Amino acid sequence: MSAENSTRTHTPRVFSGVQPTGNLTLGNYLGAVRNFVALQEQDFERLYCVVDLHAITVAQDPAALRTAIREVAAAFIASGLDPAKSILFNQGRVTAHAELGWIFSCVARMGWLNRMTQFKEKAGKNKENASVGLYAYPNLMAADILAYRATHVPVGEDQKQHLELARDIAQKFNNDFNVPDFFPQPEPLIQAESARIMSLRDGTKKMSKSDPSDMSRINMTDDADTVASKIRKAKTDPEPLPSETDGLAERPEADNLVGIFAALSGGSKQDVLSEYGGQGFGAFKPALAELTVSKMAPIGDEMRRLTQDPEHIDAILTDGARRAAVLARPIMDEVYDVMGLIGGGRNGA
Ligand code: TYM
Repeated sequence: MSAENSTRTHTPRVFSGVQPTGNLTLGNYLGAVRNFVALQEQDFERLYCVVDLHAITVAQDPAALRTAIREVAAAFIASGLDPAKSILFNQGRVTAHAELGWIFSCVARMGWLNRMTQFKEKAGKNKENASVGLYAYPNLMAADILAYRATHVPVGEDQKQHLELARDIAQKFNNDFNVPDFFPQPEPLIQAESARIMSLRDGTKKMSKSDPSDMSRINMTDDADTVASKIRKAKTDPEPLPSETDGLAERPEADNLVGIFAALSGGSKQDVLSEYGGQGFGAFKPALAELTVSKMAPIGDEMRRLTQDPEHIDAILTDGARRAAVLARPIMDEVYDVMGLIGGGRNGA
């Protein structure tokens, strides 16, 4: 629209979200939360959100949802996120998300959403009975990011397609309203070694909080004995570990366990194989169990301690929401203005 908009430079800003839908897993930790913490050492503004409005795209029990929201917040803090350095909040507390989500439902095209693999997986055979919200889910995710003009989004591999959609929405909005660079093109930040942590029962399936088998995943709140026993019982093959990463091809379970070891130890898969190549799982699994317990048990303990005090967590989320809303409101004012929506989002004020 104006020359000013076309030369806009966007403040480096990180946004990411985690759904409060049951147990958080080692996949959520290694694929996402741990990277949120690492970004605290870099020169970004950071917002980390418990995406409760995304959770309600499938049925939720209200009491269980309240508990789950606080548990994700506790996982953030127990993993090392400092509410003074990063804005921690839950999505439903900041109205900009729902407002911009609606606007983006009017920007995104049906054809774009029809391509989303996560909707197809989650809706399954019974698409007719899926909520409209589940279908429009990626529009709300784009709104989460762009309501803050976030430039970087740390996520696991499974969110890549949604991020691409967010980029398409940003681009179309900028073009439709002739406001070049109004929204940035948010970049995914995906850590190679931990982008896709797989099920302990089937190395071709993602480790997921919704898997019916609890043995398929390590939950962030599992105690040391449970973690050790899940790793002991994890599916493997009869071969010893190879000495080179090429030898992990066609061995999804071995590849996954080596990947978890690498991610937890901060090394590469090759580092792990240099140490354990030629050894069987009888030797490798106890080492992996010990490493996993040493990294995860303190976080689980801290989560349990924090969730004993829901008021403390709520105070952190309220403060975070207030700070988030301060960032989003002027951006939303501009959005309404460029679209011609007089007084949009102002509640009559
Ligand atoms: P959610 O809640 O399913 O997962 C939260 C984060 O954990 C990552 N993750 C994994 N990474 C590696 N291996 C796994 N097995 C694994 N399982 C989960 C996810 O990639 C994600 O980064 N749509 C998002 C939430 C969201 C969001 C956003 C993310 C809503 N708005 C805006 C970023 C920006 C989701 O359902 O994540």
